[in-house]
Amino acid sequence: MRVLVLGAGGQLGSEMVRLFPQAVGLKHGDLSITDMAGIERTFGQVRPELVFNCAAYNAVDGAEGDPETARLVNSVGAGMIAAACRRHEARLVHFSTNFVFDGSQSRPYVETDPTGPLGAYGRSKLDGERAVADALAGALVIRTAAVFGDRGSAVKGGSFPERILERARKGERLRVVSDQHVNPTYARHLAGAAAALAAGGMTGVIHVVAAGCCAWDELARATLSECAVDVAVDSVTSGELAGRAPRPLNGCLASLRTAPLPPWRDGLAEWAANRAAVGPTNP
Ligand SMILES: NC(=O)c1ccc[n+]([C@@H]2O[C@H](COP(=O)([O-])OP(=O)(O)OC[C@H]3O[C@@H](n4cnc5c(N)ncnc54)[C@H](OP(=O)(O)O)[C@@H]3O)[C@@H](O)[C@H]2O)c1
Repeated sequence: MRVLVLGAGGQLGSEMVRLFPQAVGLKHGDLSITDMAGIERTFGQVRPELVFNCAAYNAVDGAEGDPETARLVNSVGAGMIAAACRRHEARLVHFSTNFVFDGSQSRPYVETDPTGPLGAYGRSKLDGERAVADALAGALVIRTAAVFGDRGSAVKGGSFPERILERARKGERLRVVSDQHVNPTYARHLAGAAAALAAGGMTGVIHVVAAGCCAWDELARATLSECAVDVAVDSVTSGELAGRAPRPLNGCLASLRTAPLPPWRDGLAEWAANRAAVGPTNP
């Protein structure tokens, strides 16, 4: 099977390439998903049968100041990839986010819940879901949450756990929000599930996240504990960290269509074990 991974330098894209060693993995520098001519050239050369679009503009705060870049990459680019898949008869797995919801609901969001993004990033990703569906009827769109990987997210300066460890190492005060809840999802587990769902012929929107949900301060403490770092975390509210993009307080997902990934603590333990084996891999 000819597999093409876009955004191969990111947390998830690097895991997809690890899973499919024969895949053509293209990083941002190799191909921008906003480059129509480059997309057409790439599809002509690679002739992919299965495409994982892991490329995204993920700077949630940055998108508020630069919504046009978020729109171009997350909506227009996603739609162009889906259209190329249609023209070249390739299957597409695209990724979206819990930020398409407003977070006001008291239970985790399932696939049938109404969307209502709070900020520019979430709007651009929701528009991207629609652009993908419009261009390619059989596309699979996987919504996920709070992804952390071995590679780290360059635009954010590393994965969340890696950033917490780095700040602890520098002796910075760790102030972390306690009123926003997410399913911290290990990129390696997500990649495995994405491959399995694609192999099973799944289409449409599906939520794929780790089992369980926690606040970011709990994730920070769990990270420090996994890595045997004895540093305190101060819990703060979203209001106390003013000036950032609005984020859903309830960012937890669940699925009506598939079982969850392993519990987030298991993903974190696996991440920490890999980190101990190879060392930190921040960009
Ligand atoms: N990270 C999360 O917490 C999270 C949560 C929910 C959903 N998701 C979704 O999950 C997917 C994977 O996210 P991730 O965590 O792996 O993100 P990531 O680590 O930030 O990787 C995204 C990759 O896309 C690349 N990219 C940016 N603009 C591009 C463009 N125009 N053309 C080609 N590549 C481009 C980036 O390259 P450069 O860094 O070189 O620009 C980066 O390598 C995305 O769809 C994201 O929206 C992520």
